[in-house]
Amino acid sequence: MLKPPFFDPNKTYAENWEKGPFNGFADGVVLPLDKPRFDFLGEKLSYPIGIPAGPLLNAKFVKAALDKGFNVPIQKTVRSRVRESNEWPNVLGADIEGDLTLKKAEVPIVVRNEYKEPLSITNSFGNPSYDPEIWQKDLRECVAYAKLGQLVMCSFEGTKWEGFSHEDYINDWVQGARMIKDTGVKVVETNFSCPNEGAASLLCFDVPKVKLITSAIKNKIGDTKLIIKIAYFGDDELRELVKETGNIVDGFAAINTIPAPVVTPDGKQALPGAHRVRSGICGHAVKWAGLSMTRRLAALRKELGMKYAIVGSGGVTVPADFKEYRDAGADLVMTATGAMWNPYLAKEIKEAYPDA
Ligand SMILES: Cc1cc2nc3c(=O)[nH]c(=O)nc-3n(C[C@H](O)[C@H](O)[C@H](O)COP(=O)(O)O)c2cc1C
Repeated sequence: MLKPPFFDPNKTYAENWEKGPFNGFADGVVLPLDKPRFDFLGEKLSYPIGIPAGPLLNAKFVKAALDKGFNVPIQKTVRSRVRESNEWPNVLGADIEGDLTLKKAEVPIVVRNEYKEPLSITNSFGNPSYDPEIWQKDLRECVAYAKLGQLVMCSFEGTKWEGFSHEDYINDWVQGARMIKDTGVKVVETNFSCPNEGAASLLCFDVPKVKLITSAIKNKIGDTKLIIKIAYFGDDELRELVKETGNIVDGFAAINTIPAPVVTPDGKQALPGAHRVRSGICGHAVKWAGLSMTRRLAALRKELGMKYAIVGSGGVTVPADFKEYRDAGADLVMTATGAMWNPYLAKEIKEAYPDA
């Protein structure tokens, strides 16, 4: 059964940021942590489960996730400058029967303020950010708070603005990764797959640009690990991306959401704003896509003799989903939607699969 969510969809992003987390993430329970025994990018994890960039808005959320055994919490994507959130609502339940295939995602999906199992939702924030001084302070606190066997990560997205040159844009990504490294975070994730910015095509599909940005970041951050967050890819496109960047980056995280047009039950545009006709869908309906990416990333790693880590996400809402990702080859499994409506999901997974 769904539990009351730790991010409140009835509140704005700013209200959640200031007053959250809620419900189970505010119950004060700190779960015991097992000795670290899983390797991940040279770090030792107590258990390979985390929450991907998204529902953990700041240090209060990240600490609550650590307390509940989500050992690898990623702080929601930040930027090098302040950016307002998309207007409320930002999260709505999505009516989807079965898998959200790419074909089904061409047809409008009905969304509403109602959440039921199997749980799928849409989320649309546009990657807002507070000032770097604020998120850097939060990250330092989180790094200090994490116990042995836990690993705090943060996600970054470069920003374009009026008069910005190509070099400025690349440099923004590099400086952002550096700002995260400066807080003591050991693994940086770059969000190359945000579907809620109104961009015609996602950055992750532009392989030369991904190569340029990741090389520049790696030059700057040295030993700090770099994971890139990508969307669902076709076979040929994924092979090309992995061949070109699999020896530069330390890991691939997949998937982000699958974008689809979203409408109210009476067929009207559901989210306010010209650029919000389409919005990212996540939760149960996208599990097929995350699993497919995990399997193919694992096969390519073997075939090409590469070493990158695989972070699997998309539709992990019950313990068996976690196991499917592990069997598909995920080194680390993440749950956003599932964790939001079940603060004890990491505990349930660990109890169901003690050896992961
Ligand atoms: C409320 C919410 C906010 C999200 N924000 C981000 C984000 O800032 N950056 C990002 O890379 N992904 C973001 N995502 C996508 C998740 O990281 C994840 O890739 C996706 O939701 C699929 O996992 P799930 O089915 O477990 O939700 C967000 C997801 C949710 C539910």
